[in-house]
Amino acid sequence: MTADDDAADNAVRAQYEAYPYPARDPGDEAQRLITGSPSHLLEIEHFVFAGGRVGGAAGAGGFRALVAGGGTGDGAIMLAQQLADRDAGPGAGPVGGPGSGPGGGTVTYLDMSSASLAVAKSRAAARGLDNITFHQGSLLDLPQICAERGWAPFDYIDCCGVLHHLASPKDGLAALVSVLAERGGLGLMLYGELGRTGVYPAQRAIARLRGDDPAHESLALARRLVAAMPNGNWLRRNAYLADHLAGDDAGFHDLLLHSRDRAYLVGEVAELVAGADMRISGFLPSGAYDPANYLNDPDLIQRAAALPALQRWALAEELSGAMKTHVFYAVRNSNETGGIPRDQTPAMVPVLREMAADRLAASLAQSPRLTATLGGIERQFELPPGAADIVAHIDGRRTLRQIHGRMRVGGSKMGGKKMNWDQFAKAFSALYGILHPLNLLLFAGAEL
Ligand SMILES: C[S@@+](CC[C@H](N)C(=O)[O-])C[C@H]1O[C@@H](n2cnc3c(N)ncnc32)[C@H](O)[C@@H]1O
Repeated sequence: MTADDDAADNAVRAQYEAYPYPARDPGDEAQRLITGSPSHLLEIEHFVFAGGRVGGAAGAGGFRALVAGGGTGDGAIMLAQQLADRDAGPGAGPVGGPGSGPGGGTVTYLDMSSASLAVAKSRAAARGLDNITFHQGSLLDLPQICAERGWAPFDYIDCCGVLHHLASPKDGLAALVSVLAERGGLGLMLYGELGRTGVYPAQRAIARLRGDDPAHESLALARRLVAAMPNGNWLRRNAYLADHLAGDDAGFHDLLLHSRDRAYLVGEVAELVAGADMRISGFLPSGAYDPANYLNDPDLIQRAAALPALQRWALAEELSGAMKTHVFYAVRNSNETGGIPRDQTPAMVPVLREMAADRLAASLAQSPRLTATLGGIERQFELPPGAADIVAHIDGRRTLRQIHGRMRVGGSKMGGKKMNWDQFAKAFSALYGILHPLNLLLFAGAEL
């Protein structure tokens, strides 16, 4: 650690004391649960536990999650609420539905900012959540903290938007991995370089003009400078940052007055992860990392499809230009059975991540087209015949075998003869091939 590192550490700490991030009002918990990626319980089951139920794969009743650099609580509150909902009643249940019995699991929240911790704690209290433990400290000290408190190993660790603020993201990642269970996984978010085009020259320009004033006291100056930027300025031209620039002080400060942040290209993300002897199990949404979604020329699509996975992801990032962040899950290289589900076996449980199956089925019955934005581009996706019928049977509990048991050729309404397994598996795969890249359809909750 150099003196410069120490000074930057202190400045980062001061920033998050002055501007807990993201700005949240505990009073809003009564209205809605903020959900997102990483750390949605269904995503953890899909991308870390290969579709198996947490508490099942990780040992009944003992699922232990850590949210490192938890900020004002978005990840910790979402996960704790989803675990509590699971825990609430008998029978295997989907997230947000009836519970799956005791043993939902616990969440440990860690952040070095007392102001952020206070907001997160109030949000948990507003929800009546009693499955989160709060701790103020640095994730770099995790090995010692865990040894003192008997916390580790964790089955899952969230570290969203934190590592890129450390003097050494590599050391931060190593600290996380040192307290991760052998079969556990990480959910991470790192800034994306190309989507943040314009941010770093603007940060330097603001730093020049504010002189020795502390960053967290230079908000008004920074806002004036951004308002005065000419049309050719790359920050101004980057449409993907408009929301941040127009948003609240905490977001504006985080974007342009941060004392330390860096951004990553996909290849650099992969290098960081590989350096910790881990592998990426999936970027989210995976469709944004598929070059085919940015191309129409069949020859170019074919050439892109022939590339190894890492090059395909990198190409998608180069084509999109809109990836401000990289959200992904990772598991240990030694964990051969972890990561995403390998096969769609009859015992797997498909689950819709957010949408109600009946609403989606009804809308697909009207029109087999879905519109979605991937990597900054709006695209239409045509669903295969029979999609509405399959979707209508997905309830987050039924296995593929049970759904197949309910399916008929031509749709149940037409009373056709029964599909055999191969026909069903093919139809399901086609549906999955469209909904999974949009992060709408996952495998989760199976007793594997
Ligand atoms: C950009 S915020 C992200 C908050 C939260 N993870 C989210 O995504 O909403 C970064 C957070 O990391 C925390 N942080 C930065 N360095 C840290 C460290 N070494 N140990 C623990 N927390 C840290 C900051 O205090 C801040 O709350």
